Amino acid sequence: MPEAKPQTIYLKNYHEPEYLIETVDLNFILEAEYARVVSRLTITHNPDNKARNAALVLLGEELTLISIALNGVTLTTSQYKLNDESLTIADVPQNTTFTLAIENTINPKANSALEGLFVSNDMLCTQCEAQGFRKITYFLDRPDVMARFTTTLIADKTLYPVLLSNGNKVAQGELIDNRHWVTWEDPFKKPCYLFALVAGQLECIEDHFTTMSGRDITLKIFVEAHDIDKCAHAMQSLKNSMRWDEVTYGREYDLDLYMIVAVGHFNMGAMENKGLNVFNTKFVLARPDTATDMDYEHIEGVIGHEYFHNWTGNRITCRDWFQLSLKEGFTVFRDQEFTADQTSKAVKRIDDVNALRTRQFAEDAGPLAHPIRPEAYIEINNFYTLTVYEKGAEVVRMIRTLLGTENFHKGADLYFQRHDGQAVTCEHFVQAMEDASNKDLSQFRRWYSQAGTPVVKVEQTYDAAKQSLTLTLSQSIPGQKNAAVLHIPVKVALFSEDGTIMDASVVDTVAINNELTLELREQTQDFIFENVPGTPILSILRGFSAPVKLQMSQPLTELAFLLRHDNDSFNRWEAGQKLTASIIFELIDTIKQGKSLSIPEILIDSFKAILEQTSPDLSYLACLLSLPAENYLAEQMPVVDVEAIHHARQFVKRSLAAHLTEQISALYLQNHQQETGELNSAAIGKRRIKNLCLDYLSQLNTDDSHQLAHNQFANAKTMTDQIAALGSIVNSENPEKQACLQQFYQQWQDEALVIDKWFSIQASSTQPDTFTVVQSLLRHSAFDLKNPNRVRSLVGAFSQANPVHYHAKNGQGYQFLADQVIALNSLNPQVASRMVSALTQWRRFDKQRQDLMKQQLERIINTDNISKDVFEIASKSLA
Ligand code: ARG
Ligand code: ZN
Repeated sequence: MPEAKPQTIYLKNYHEPEYLIETVDLNFILEAEYARVVSRLTITHNPDNKARNAALVLLGEELTLISIALNGVTLTTSQYKLNDESLTIADVPQNTTFTLAIENTINPKANSALEGLFVSNDMLCTQCEAQGFRKITYFLDRPDVMARFTTTLIADKTLYPVLLSNGNKVAQGELIDNRHWVTWEDPFKKPCYLFALVAGQLECIEDHFTTMSGRDITLKIFVEAHDIDKCAHAMQSLKNSMRWDEVTYGREYDLDLYMIVAVGHFNMGAMENKGLNVFNTKFVLARPDTATDMDYEHIEGVIGHEYFHNWTGNRITCRDWFQLSLKEGFTVFRDQEFTADQTSKAVKRIDDVNALRTRQFAEDAGPLAHPIRPEAYIEINNFYTLTVYEKGAEVVRMIRTLLGTENFHKGADLYFQRHDGQAVTCEHFVQAMEDASNKDLSQFRRWYSQAGTPVVKVEQTYDAAKQSLTLTLSQSIPGQKNAAVLHIPVKVALFSEDGTIMDASVVDTVAINNELTLELREQTQDFIFENVPGTPILSILRGFSAPVKLQMSQPLTELAFLLRHDNDSFNRWEAGQKLTASIIFELIDTIKQGKSLSIPEILIDSFKAILEQTSPDLSYLACLLSLPAENYLAEQMPVVDVEAIHHARQFVKRSLAAHLTEQISALYLQNHQQETGELNSAAIGKRRIKNLCLDYLSQLNTDDSHQLAHNQFANAKTMTDQIAALGSIVNSENPEKQACLQQFYQQWQDEALVIDKWFSIQASSTQPDTFTVVQSLLRHSAFDLKNPNRVRSLVGAFSQANPVHYHAKNGQGYQFLADQVIALNSLNPQVASRMVSALTQWRRFDKQRQDLMKQQLERIINTDNISKDVFEIASKSLA
């Protein structure tokens, strides 16, 4: 147990700040093990807060205080109170602005939590969101206190030639003893979580962007010297993002300089600090031979995400951390649409829904379920969740669906116009959408306060005499007491047997190209379709129009029909997923009865038809040919049986490969022959489908398939091809396995991000020796518990992407995970608590596994000096 019981913070207790900070003048003397901070604040009593004569409470953690002066007069120790979390000054002026000068020191090198000011390789950098600024100096560390920052950095010229902070560089100079200084000024008011500084030996690439109003912006990407040849894609992505936000939302960049720094040690993906984004190297560095096509896409997506925050997050920020989805949900929605526009809309939607359904649905059905606007937390870092981000984005998407694109953009414009420069709430966002469109969103607002994934049950009755179809939709949220009745947009189309779409209508419902958006607002509601000439085949929840689970029975023949004919690219794919999933579930039953397995014709025929099809979007065809993930199948079982899922799914994969070897091989060759290593979407599509074919073929474990994989590995022009081949090799009985793994390591030992792939491919292997391999990788000289990317690539991959081995019956996987969590707890609580998530789903498994998982959770909770982060996740998991 932690020393004092961790406190819960509640949304209902929000109150306005008593004091406001107008300006912040920061002065840093930087060394790796010793940083001296002088902070000069101008402070006033907040006129909106009626409580007078309140003490001034500044937050600060892990700081060594040297001195405080109020209006130039040094305070004696009796004039303030200091504890582990705050500095309280009881007596401060109430009617005038006053200045406070605080001097303190910190030790960046000792900061393994990577929050506040820390060291990565030899550079110094910061991460302040959510509450890291208080680890730099005493402050009103809350997002509704927005101030203007000026920052001066002083450091050794040789060790730290580059000194960066937010805004514009306004002055610089040299000092004696080989030191230099730089002053940065950020003209925009901002909350302290958007503060950043970076100091180090960095190289940069530079480019320019001309904004829609003709302003010239300098763009710089800073990296360590040996990565300078891997920045071009990030730079192009930045320019694409800037243009996209102008064209799509009419938003222009506002400073003259935009900087991105890539850091090797980073807890999350990236951070949108004003004018100075700090990124995990994973989302910046790319060269065709070191990064996969997926890496390229993710880099562009994350660069876009952080750039879009400049308006949705920075210019308009959150009033308090409960409103996190205000900026994250909206910004994820924006980056999803950006990527969709840059790549394939169909594939992007499928990838996003896949991620949502496998991971967010699990979160929303488990003990850590929370609404996109949570009401309570112990540690806010635990609420940077799939729910706040991804479900939050789905909620914004539903608003667009309900309002229509035009009104949605009117709403966005109104939101920007009303709230620029403010710290606001989710309510302000919805209000702007409502005011701009006149659409009543009062019931829709419940999505912000209701946790859990709704189940929508679908029943249909066709009346031939009246030529009408009655669709009965009912909603419920399993596991949530007194669940609210939500306002759910359900897009529907009806198909005739000949594959054409029917021209049916529903009263008061607009149809666009015969697609209707039904608005489900009742617990149970009938929708009557008129003008339905024959029994229709229903395509429902098109485009995944709401984050819900559908409950309906649809015969395999109808699913196969939709897989052929649906003109909604999402639902066409979804039909294939449902078809395959229901076959896998039947096989699971067969396995349990101990009978022998066989694969139905309908699946082989459907796959054969797709394999023989041509399409300009080969990435999309690859999606159509992909089986539902094990995690997604698990999500649909009352008691998860990891082994049965794995075996049934593998059986389907192997059978398809065996029955369709000829077609799959042909498709492989056709798309492999002219591999040039290009990065356009046609080339990416070819690689995606080709590597899927390779994966199928390697299930056959024949000499031919081994040879194919090995050839591709040895001659690969891109990391996409090399790693796909290595994956096939590692997951089969390929005789070249050890040699390939060794060669790959030799080839890439100096590229940290590639070595991360080397770890994770082995950690997620389904081969029988995986656990032993994982244990020895933990002792590998390249493994480092202090590097979050490395931890995720080994511990994360094993526990989250390797269900069969992680859930080994004897509990060794759980124990392994708990050991790592306990070791990480004292080094890096944020990363430790992320790793605990692989234990929270214990209720989903059989009794024996439940007990083993609970034991490990209890062991974790009983760790000495358990962090708030880990305590919250572990204790709520057991509750
Ligand atoms: N705001 C960052 C983003 O773009 C994430 C920061 C997360 N930091 C944290 N400590 N949880 O999504
Ligand atoms: Zn974000």
